Amino acid sequence: MKNVLLGVTGGIAAYKSAELIRLLRQQNYDVRVVMTDSAMEFITPLTLQALSGHAVHTKLLDASEENAMGHINLARWADILLIAPATASCIAKFAHGLADDLLSTLYLAVQCPVYIAPAMNQAMWHKTVTQENIAQLIMHQVTLIGPEAGSQACGEIGLGRMTEASDIVAALDAPEQLLLNKKILITAGPTREPLDPVRYITNRSSGKMGYALAIQAEKMGAQVTLVSGPVALEKPSNIAFISVETAAEMYTVVMQQVSEQDMMIAAAAVADYTPATVQADKIKKQGDESILALQKTQDIVASVAALKDKPFTVGFAAETKNLEHYAQEKLQRKNLDMIAANWVGQAEGGFDSALNALQVYWPEGTKNLAMCSKNELANQLLTLISERYNAKNSA
Ligand code: C5P
Repeated sequence: MKNVLLGVTGGIAAYKSAELIRLLRQQNYDVRVVMTDSAMEFITPLTLQALSGHAVHTKLLDASEENAMGHINLARWADILLIAPATASCIAKFAHGLADDLLSTLYLAVQCPVYIAPAMNQAMWHKTVTQENIAQLIMHQVTLIGPEAGSQACGEIGLGRMTEASDIVAALDAPEQLLLNKKILITAGPTREPLDPVRYITNRSSGKMGYALAIQAEKMGAQVTLVSGPVALEKPSNIAFISVETAAEMYTVVMQQVSEQDMMIAAAAVADYTPATVQADKIKKQGDESILALQKTQDIVASVAALKDKPFTVGFAAETKNLEHYAQEKLQRKNLDMIAANWVGQAEGGFDSALNALQVYWPEGTKNLAMCSKNELANQLLTLISERYNAKNSA
């Protein structure tokens, strides 16, 4: 039996936590509930106590509670910390490590996986600071469940509804071991091409999609090697990790690592061109115009796909126009087994966002993976990769 510590915060979706507890218990989870002060404005601790079968925890400093199960014991007890609903305020506190009540203190104290199911008005969800906080939590390896689009309690329509209780319970279940013992090489992030000792050319890639793929593939049982350009993300645990800076370094490392890999996923935004020469000294200002000579880098994914014993090779195509045309063209020209195409430079999704959507193409078909968190999208893409990999290897 797994122990779920359920945090309930103060949003109208708090009424759904009653159903959530019932479903969790049905799935044999032992559930203990922590409520914030504002959650108790929406639903009573008595209701959640009756459903969970345990007294509800509400206070950080409570003499009687410390005797029974204080916050450190609660944190140790938990196999999963799930916050549903998670308000914008709770997300902001977690993102910044502010521990001023029982739930935010527990977030710092637990060592188990953390899941949050946000629920808020759509404008609050779209606010830049909320998205930044969410991105921060994803970087800290918190798994995002939802939110969903639809009509909201406030009468507005948009993203911000809490995911339905049954879907939350499904999301908690460990992913199927679809990639058990498969060796997967993943590239992620941008590359950095130096001009001189102080300047370089790079791009907007955050590395989030590649890192999400590496983390989820590991959860699905794969042995992952992540080759990463310079990013601001934490190095994932249980994953062989090699950090590189330039396209040339990434090429060398990938070619060293590629033998014996079952799959290669090229999620890195590799520079197509690099300065023809790197100046030893800082380039000085001269005249009104300056022309930079660039030379083509080696195409890493195409070089892998050209190998005699190539792994199942998946590329990405980030485009601002003609998505399908460019993706299909790259699939063929680079001899890939699959390509995941996404729009970049849009209001939502793409390079620097916590969310993304993909249109995936392979020689015999295509599939749309709708906008969701990069973790969830990574799950869906890896599931599709494992299906196509199995189809190819049983043919
Ligand atoms: O041709 P384009 O750069 O748009 O192709 C994108 C795909 O090719 C991505 O999968 C990227 O990781 C890969 N790529 C590469 N080496 C390069 C350029 C792109 O592996 N030098």
